[in-house]
Amino acid sequence: MGFEDWQSLSEAAHVPDADTVCVWWLVLDGVPETVWTRWPSLLSPEERDRAARFVFERDRRSYTAAHALLRALLHRMFDLPPPAWRFVNGPHGKPDIDPAHGLPAVRFNISHTHGAVACAMAMGHDIGVDIECAERGGHPLEIAGAYFAPSEQALLRATSPASQRDLFFRLWTLKEAYVKARGEGLALPLDRFAFRPDDPVTISFAESCADDADDWLFRTLRPSAGHVLSLAVRHGTRNRVAVRSRPMTHSAIDRLIRTEVSVTSQRDAGWQGSDARERRGL
Ligand SMILES: CC(C)(COP(=O)(O)OP(=O)(O)OC[C@H]1O[C@@H](n2cnc3c(N)ncnc32)[C@H](O)[C@@H]1OP(=O)(O)O)[C@@H](O)C(=O)NCCC(=O)NCCS
Repeated sequence: MGFEDWQSLSEAAHVPDADTVCVWWLVLDGVPETVWTRWPSLLSPEERDRAARFVFERDRRSYTAAHALLRALLHRMFDLPPPAWRFVNGPHGKPDIDPAHGLPAVRFNISHTHGAVACAMAMGHDIGVDIECAERGGHPLEIAGAYFAPSEQALLRATSPASQRDLFFRLWTLKEAYVKARGEGLALPLDRFAFRPDDPVTISFAESCADDADDWLFRTLRPSAGHVLSLAVRHGTRNRVAVRSRPMTHSAIDRLIRTEVSVTSQRDAGWQGSDARERRGL
């Protein structure tokens, strides 16, 4: 998919309405070297410091790309320079946009793994995303035995060896997306809830995990042959939700940054960008 013209770029960076959930991803294969010297300038000084501390270049690049993607999208949607965005962390570290920016209730979540990154957004709904490289090591049954619910372990054991890895990564990313949507991270033990990766995906809870399965919508996508991505959204009327998934390219992200934000186009895209500017006194 290309974002060569204004309309498709505008469409790609569309601010979600209350019944729309957006997920963007970027596969890092083939991103040119010049990008890795430019994109750190999109990050905050703290993020640049953190990026500099990674031991492995591939981790630095995934981290940089995920934060560049988020900041470029926010810039394009709400007209504030990428490095100027500030975030506040919840009790278990989940970041949200700093309320001082005075924006509507945009919620987001990012994920980075070897060779790919993802960003998801929803308006006023808890959202979590997880992307994993399905080529990484580890034995599915052993990891599942340590972390997954008994019913998920049984599903894996009943699956043919050829399909086991695929099922394992679908379950893993769903579980991570769910704990990330709740904002609890590892504070929520992963065996307290169980997925059935049918169509639609369903979740059930142990007694010690208070939640309502009817409030949740899940999706699993394949950004590349080697990557699995899952999305979790808490939405009271999930049947109304439309999920928009957008593969991004490095040049599309660069265009998000370079393109002047037009109030008219933002209005066309369904969000009154001028109101936010007025609220911020711009
Ligand atoms: C943060 C956590 C929720 C996800 O970690 P992860 O899968 O390694 O990392 P991801 O790339 O998907 O997500 C990281 C991003 O999530 C966000 N994040 C941090 N804490 C979060 C939380 N409590 N809830 C939601 N999102 C969070 C941050 O934006 C973070 O990005 P940053 O570190 O670059 O700032 C982690 O605490 C976790 O649950 N790890 C589980 C790992 C595990 O043991 N899995 C077992 C197999 S099922």
